[in-house]
Amino acid sequence: MSEFDRVIKGGTIATASDTFSADIGIKDGRVAALGENLSGDDVIDATGKLVLPGGIDAHVHIDQPKKGGIAMADDFRSGTRSAAAGGTTTIMPFACQYRGESLRQVVEDYHKKADGKAVVDYAFHLIIADANEQVMGQELPALIEDGYTSFKIYMTYPDLKLNDRECLEIFSLARRTGAMTMVHAENADCIEWMTEQLLMAGKTGPKYHAVSRPPVVEKEATHRAISLAEFLDVPILIVHVSSAEAMEQIAIARQKGLRIYGETCPQYLFLTADDLELDDEFEGAKYICSPPPRDKANQEKIWQGLANSTFDVLASDHAPYSFDGPDGKKVVGEDAPFNKIPNGVPGIETRLPLLFSGGVSEGRISLQKFVALTATNPAKLYGLHPRKGTIAIGSDADIAIWDPEKKVTITNENLHHNVDYTPYEGIECTGWPVTVLSRGDVVVQDCEVVASEGRGQFLRCDKPDPARPGMGTL
Ligand code: URP
Ligand code: ZN
Ligand code: ZN
Repeated sequence: MSEFDRVIKGGTIATASDTFSADIGIKDGRVAALGENLSGDDVIDATGKLVLPGGIDAHVHIDQPKKGGIAMADDFRSGTRSAAAGGTTTIMPFACQYRGESLRQVVEDYHKKADGKAVVDYAFHLIIADANEQVMGQELPALIEDGYTSFKIYMTYPDLKLNDRECLEIFSLARRTGAMTMVHAENADCIEWMTEQLLMAGKTGPKYHAVSRPPVVEKEATHRAISLAEFLDVPILIVHVSSAEAMEQIAIARQKGLRIYGETCPQYLFLTADDLELDDEFEGAKYICSPPPRDKANQEKIWQGLANSTFDVLASDHAPYSFDGPDGKKVVGEDAPFNKIPNGVPGIETRLPLLFSGGVSEGRISLQKFVALTATNPAKLYGLHPRKGTIAIGSDADIAIWDPEKKVTITNENLHHNVDYTPYEGIECTGWPVTVLSRGDVVVQDCEVVASEGRGQFLRCDKPDPARPGMGTL
């Protein structure tokens, strides 16, 4: 018997702060040693490879039905298999409340969906759509104590949106409890007004989705959310930022010393509004997400925001609606107006390879920045660090071994999600995760998912404290 259950030998380890050569000794699912000439019962040769913390995808929707309608294609089995294949070892899906529902009941329901199915670990964010007395006075404070320490609120979508007063109540509770609020920032009235104008003018095709919510609509809501947070002196995180204008609001706030955090997604780096306007008109529905993809100039700014630390997190916002079939975007009918098409694009498996390829391989961001954006920062912001998000003694052995030279052309056929398309079809990536470990278990071997269903564990999150020393390095 060796000292370690498993050793990863000969690789180049990268964390959010360093790159160095060492072997990793794994014992009981955790990193037990970093050193030279370690020996173990099982040895993985990582010569010529990069050894990175497994990714944390801090914004995914799994098995989250639309109110009264379309189901998602991914359950916790297919969603987590797809995550693992793409180098992600922790996911943070949403337990989504609709108005009138008990938040506690919603959380129990999502646990039933995940239990016995997930192949990698998961924590839940909450979505608060009904900030009533029961939720604000009892359920939410108790859930925060139980390890659900982050929640998302919406400034748009009729079923989910909160008004400014309700946002303030949520921010105030977050301030009292130390929880983190994630904000979907788009101005609901602007979108509703513009949608009406477009529909009245017969402009109903998918491309008008982007016209109905231009960057200024995102900028206004981002500015307002930041102002409300400034008013109460509380940190918030703006999710899925798509435009330079919204990003600038975050940058300005940070220059003022406000604790405002930002997330963006691959769709704002690799897609544009032109994708909504394909020859076969309804094909554009595949690319409908909110906020919508913008133009090339905005893409370039978003890349800059990743490199210059305006953004803290790159998440997928995986929203696995298929295109065809009984639960596909097409089910609404090919002549359905854009505002009836489910919003969101799949991307849980392609998130890391796209960022690695477009970012690290093409020289836009450093390897340290890649690790920070995709693993370490989300772990810190959502109370999972240092158990997750780094390679350090005592951390879970959640590790992705990357071949930085491997060329893979993304095709839906080769992905592991249950969605019938990928918006990134045909993009060639340089760099791909070849072996992935979750708590020391090999879950992906030579790009094949070998994980057993149900091995993924629920993670209780600590209260993130974005003011604590160390968060300044985000
Ligand atoms: O279009 C999107 N982003 N759909 C998923 C739901 C959300 O708002 O994150
Ligand atoms: Zn959103
Ligand atoms: Zn989302």
